[in-house]
Amino acid sequence: MADYDYDVLVIGAGPGGYVAAIRAGQLGLRTACAESRETLGGTCLNVGCIPSKALLHASELYEEAKGGHMTKFGVEFTGVTLNLDQMHAEKAKAVKELTGGVEFLFKKNKVTWLKGKAAFQDAHTVDVAGQKVTAKNIVIATGSSVMPLPGVEVDQKTVVDSTGALALPKVPEHMVVIGGGVIGLELGSVWRRLGAKVTVVEFVDQILPGFDGEVRRESAKLFKKQGMELKLSTKVTGVTVDNGVATVTVEPAAGGASETMTADAVLVSIGRKANVDGLNLESIGLELNKRGQIETDHSFRTKVDGVWAIGDCVPGLMLAHKAEDEGVAVAENIAGQTGIVNEDVIPSVVYTMPEIAGVGLTEEAAKDMTEIKVGKFPFAANSRAKTNRDTDGFVKVIADAKTDRVLGVWIVSSLAGTLIAEAAIAMEFGATSEDIAYTCHAHPTHAEAMKEAAMAVQGKPIHI
Ligand code: FAD
Ligand code: NAI
Repeated sequence: MADYDYDVLVIGAGPGGYVAAIRAGQLGLRTACAESRETLGGTCLNVGCIPSKALLHASELYEEAKGGHMTKFGVEFTGVTLNLDQMHAEKAKAVKELTGGVEFLFKKNKVTWLKGKAAFQDAHTVDVAGQKVTAKNIVIATGSSVMPLPGVEVDQKTVVDSTGALALPKVPEHMVVIGGGVIGLELGSVWRRLGAKVTVVEFVDQILPGFDGEVRRESAKLFKKQGMELKLSTKVTGVTVDNGVATVTVEPAAGGASETMTADAVLVSIGRKANVDGLNLESIGLELNKRGQIETDHSFRTKVDGVWAIGDCVPGLMLAHKAEDEGVAVAENIAGQTGIVNEDVIPSVVYTMPEIAGVGLTEEAAKDMTEIKVGKFPFAANSRAKTNRDTDGFVKVIADAKTDRVLGVWIVSSLAGTLIAEAAIAMEFGATSEDIAYTCHAHPTHAEAMKEAAMAVQGKPIHI
């Protein structure tokens, strides 16, 4: 048997890779993880989930205080000002603590961090910063990066991607966001709350691709109410920058007369693509699919023996928790156990205010598949939401008309991201809407809206 340096070598230390490495270490496998960034944690901890949530939280506090939303509760402020440097500093502190936490966990679980960019030499050998490292199993967890928009050059000053938009040194007067997906709406919300006028230009006729149709329409209504301008069915055909002022040319997606807008910040957020460049996949004969991703089977094995892949670089939702679960599963599979991820029950959350969340099938997809029953309950009829003056949104439960099994749950609510976990657990256990309806939920909580939406599937909600 060949003598390898490691049992497992993971390429990339994002939520997929670092979790895979820790799990492999826990299972007693000799494990290393190659990471080309200065810090561990990947996109999510360094320039994704964590810094964006830090700014979403901070900007929400600012808007609450500045907008006087608290005065109706008798909490009054005078002279509220924005210290943007401090906001960025607190964000950086959270990032540092969390990336440092991963470094601690690597040490605790005896995972060796190989610093540098990895490239394959053969299926069991990679070069990391000039060092040859061999492993019996290699897990590709290289993640994704921003999809460029042809003709629009990101300079990270006036025209930024998500990384630049997380670090703007001043609040723009007018930010044009290209792409009404998760990044555009989250980061657009941050800068709108801090004082920018925000215009979102979206190619298709709805924001938030992949979400339930009714949720997409309701969300658009709420973002407009908050002052965001949404230009749907519109495409950007070019952006020029002169002295910090961008001129953005747009035209109807179906073609027609063009118009221009000026902005002092443009955010390009039209999706992300798998990081595979420079891995030298040709050397191991691993081909990509049409979308430039690495295909695997349900165990996360690629076509090449001993090479596995997980996270944003494989097909499926590009989400940190999906990558993490795949990280645990791939390590368990390598160790000879049975690691499974149910890709049908992965929650998605947009961390705006209200939050927007879903798990399972949209109403449209469920209808295409089978006969369904739908139950909906508005937060305007939920006692806790009413008490908190926080009544935007609803819960919608979609169930199979014959079996009553829950097929999808969609929530718009200040607490949607937390509430959706209940739906995910129910679906993972194969629950019916009746199971949720007859589960006692504490009063007064937003979670009661989930119970009532499930009761509505049965045709008998109490409070509407
Ligand atoms: P990544 O996190 O991208 O990590 C891959 C790592 O591999 C990187 O650190 C990279 O440097 C390294 N690497 C690449 N190639 C090599 C190589 N050849 N050698 C060595 N190292 C290499 N998801 C959520 O679930 N919730 C959120 O709130 C959320 N917010 C987001 C906000 C923003 C602004 C962005 C951009 C993304 C957000 N995401 C969110 C998505 C989330 O960040 C990704 O789904 C997640 O990071 C994917 O994890 P991963 O391990 O597959 O890859
Ligand atoms: P996205 O795929 O969510 O949205 C991109 C949007 O851009 C789509 O609506 C698309 O129709 C539109 N678009 C594409 N080309 C366009 C063009 N030329 N002009 C105008 N609009 C155009 O991609 P986004 O927002 O960049 O995010 C990438 C991924 O990052 C997400 O899919 C998600 O997986 C992850 N993410 C997750 C977060 C979360 O979980 N809260 C937060 C941020 C990112």
